[in-house]
Amino acid sequence: MYVPVGRPYLGEEEKKYAYDAIEQGAISGFFGEYIKKFEDGFAKYCGSAHGVAVNSGTTALHLATATLRLKPGDEVLVSTFTNMASFFAVLYQGAIPVPIDSEPDTWNMDPALLEEKITPRTRAIMVVHIYGHPADMDPIMAVAKKHNLLVIEDAAEAHGAEYKGKKAGSFGDIGCFSFYANKIITTGEGGMIVTDSKKHAERGKMLKSLAFGESPDKFIHQDIGYNYRMTNLQAAIGLGQLEKIDFLIGKKRELAAFYHEALKDIPELQLPVEKPYAKNVYWVYHLVLRGALKGKRNAVIAALKEKGVESREAFMPYNAQKEVVTKGLAKYEDCPVANNIGENGFYLPSGPILSDEEKVHVVTSFKEVLAKV
Ligand SMILES: Cc1ncc(COP(=O)(O)O)c(C=O)c1O
Repeated sequence: MYVPVGRPYLGEEEKKYAYDAIEQGAISGFFGEYIKKFEDGFAKYCGSAHGVAVNSGTTALHLATATLRLKPGDEVLVSTFTNMASFFAVLYQGAIPVPIDSEPDTWNMDPALLEEKITPRTRAIMVVHIYGHPADMDPIMAVAKKHNLLVIEDAAEAHGAEYKGKKAGSFGDIGCFSFYANKIITTGEGGMIVTDSKKHAERGKMLKSLAFGESPDKFIHQDIGYNYRMTNLQAAIGLGQLEKIDFLIGKKRELAAFYHEALKDIPELQLPVEKPYAKNVYWVYHLVLRGALKGKRNAVIAALKEKGVESREAFMPYNAQKEVVTKGLAKYEDCPVANNIGENGFYLPSGPILSDEEKVHVVTSFKEVLAKV
């Protein structure tokens, strides 16, 4: 048996809508009904007024920093424990990311560390809802308000996650999502920004499509634009996925409950939490080795692989990336909590539709591995 870390779940609706898009010849990012349907449907799901579909989570993040006009020299406080795309989106604008260390239990940005990093150049906070658990938004939004900072949410992993009943991605000026194949819902590659601001949505729409002018002045471009368009074919798949998003989240939560029950009595494992304020969508079931198992992460991953169980190491925090440290952009010592997660964290197979046999195989193999390493 081989259990991969993730596997998309696609059904009849996706086939039907994609087939329809093909039948109509509406396969680009310019024409076709599915783009708007998916944008409107997903934005509504998030509790946001507008959605602008793009071709990846990375381009969603960049579209957010470009739409908000981050510029060279601006400083942005970013959760250090994240996919590097969050940092790249700041760097693409020539702005300066400032890494913020993590909370030890949720692995999200620690709001208590924000104020000490604020300078006269600070313009924004980029908060990441890591692995599907929402960040602690009240104190983060309070700091943003007090210091007049923009807030960008990287909700690439947190579709449908909730903070005090409100959806991730709907708190800041702009929320960003990924629809990569392993995400909660997928379009293969894809992304979206959501916002309540008509102004941001219009600017995002303009920038994502080469900043074309309005007809008949299409080729009088309004700005330096990008081609970040999602295709109608991808949006058709996205619409099919959106119809089953609550089912998919339910499956993720069921799997997390199964793993939790099987692993909760092993003291060397720090398991994912669900804070009282949170609905965790458990994008992946990520855990951190501690005590006698600290430092054995790579050995555990290798031994699991031998047993046909794929697992994946945690992100390496920004402040620990060689490129970053060598260039003097951050120091390894800046974020000790995140360093520990990055060095001792990994996730188990987390696809939404693992069979019962696969689930049992994962936990049995994992326990055998832990007893031996
Ligand atoms: C937190 C986070 N941000 C951004 C991205 C980038 O998204 P994409 O791979 O769609 O470009 C990802 C995922 O891959 C992610 O996990």
